[in-house]
Amino acid sequence: MTTNAEPRQSLAQARAQTDSLFNLVDPAALYERPIPERHRIIFYLGHLEAFDWNLLGRALDMPAFHAAFDHLFSFGIDPGSGDLPTDQPADWPEVDEVRDYNARVRGALDAALDLAPSNAPEELMHVAIEHRLMHAETFAYMLHHLPFEHKVPPAFSVAPSGPAPQTRMVEIPAGPATLGRKHGDGFGWDNEFDQHQVEVPAFSIAQHKVTNGDYLEFVKAAAAAPHFWICREGDWCYHGMFEDIPLPLDWPVYVSYEQAQAYARWKGKSLPTEAQFHRAAYAGGLGDHADFAGENVDFRSWDPEPVTASPPNRFGVSQLVGNGWEWTATPFEPFAGFQPFEFYPGYSANFFDGQHYVLKGGSPRTARCLLRSSFRNWFRTAYPYIYATFRLLEN
Ligand SMILES: [Fe+2]
Repeated sequence: MTTNAEPRQSLAQARAQTDSLFNLVDPAALYERPIPERHRIIFYLGHLEAFDWNLLGRALDMPAFHAAFDHLFSFGIDPGSGDLPTDQPADWPEVDEVRDYNARVRGALDAALDLAPSNAPEELMHVAIEHRLMHAETFAYMLHHLPFEHKVPPAFSVAPSGPAPQTRMVEIPAGPATLGRKHGDGFGWDNEFDQHQVEVPAFSIAQHKVTNGDYLEFVKAAAAAPHFWICREGDWCYHGMFEDIPLPLDWPVYVSYEQAQAYARWKGKSLPTEAQFHRAAYAGGLGDHADFAGENVDFRSWDPEPVTASPPNRFGVSQLVGNGWEWTATPFEPFAGFQPFEFYPGYSANFFDGQHYVLKGGSPRTARCLLRSSFRNWFRTAYPYIYATFRLLEN
């Protein structure tokens, strides 16, 4: 019999993580919509509990006590830019009603899990935990775009910065890359299966991520500035989570896929494919048992640090995992053998549309458990709000 003790502890930690984020929001701002393509903040307050209820409550055979909220808060949105949501604050329930619902969901689920922990399959517990931890990141970047006056900053520090470093192209020898996850090897989302090998020809990849300093040259040559930059009295600043600072030239630049592609073309280079990323990162020693202790990951900070702040892997390439997700040139598609989860059929399949591209690695706000090599992230090509970086490649 499984006791689910470890998942229960992880769920409690994940709840503490997301609770602390909601505590940063000025209550007067809970009906704001910091990102036009997403729901208002109030949706996310109800969503995490509604998701757990819809998943675990059903598995535990519990009767609904608020079917309207179970439905209202069930799923987020991902519209194209021509199809933005138009709902108004008054269309949403009062905060107190949502908080009451949340408390009741947690109380009922916890009581049921205490009584018969083995009734909640371990896979569903992992889905609930990782879903919540993914929102701990997506909600953080959403709050990033909420005006400072609506946030209550915790104690925080910002990494120092210096001039942009010289980068060099590192030769990666031809060889195999292992993508995906093996069945029976622990939890993975539907899109991580099946595991397979790809033979990757030799290529060269930049030692460092592209920096703000690098990208500034592109902006001076008439490219649009990234969404995270703001102009103050004629000088570029980085718009941080809790303050604006003079543009840190040696930090990675946060950009959309389209901006990353445009910069790479301007430089006569390209972005790595998902297989090339795997080859450079995981054949380079960043396996699933790496500790990532020196990397800017797992909620260590709110913003990036210099691209030179952590040591290179055994190929001589640094920060492939950490300090910002990395765009790949690979559209998000299923691996051979893909099977959607029966209890969440749209998790990946709704996004196999050629409009979303794969990101790998992880950001300062990515939970430790999501740094496994098989984990795949994906976003629309013009979406500029995320903690997404890139690096150059030469075939
Ligand atoms: Fe969600």
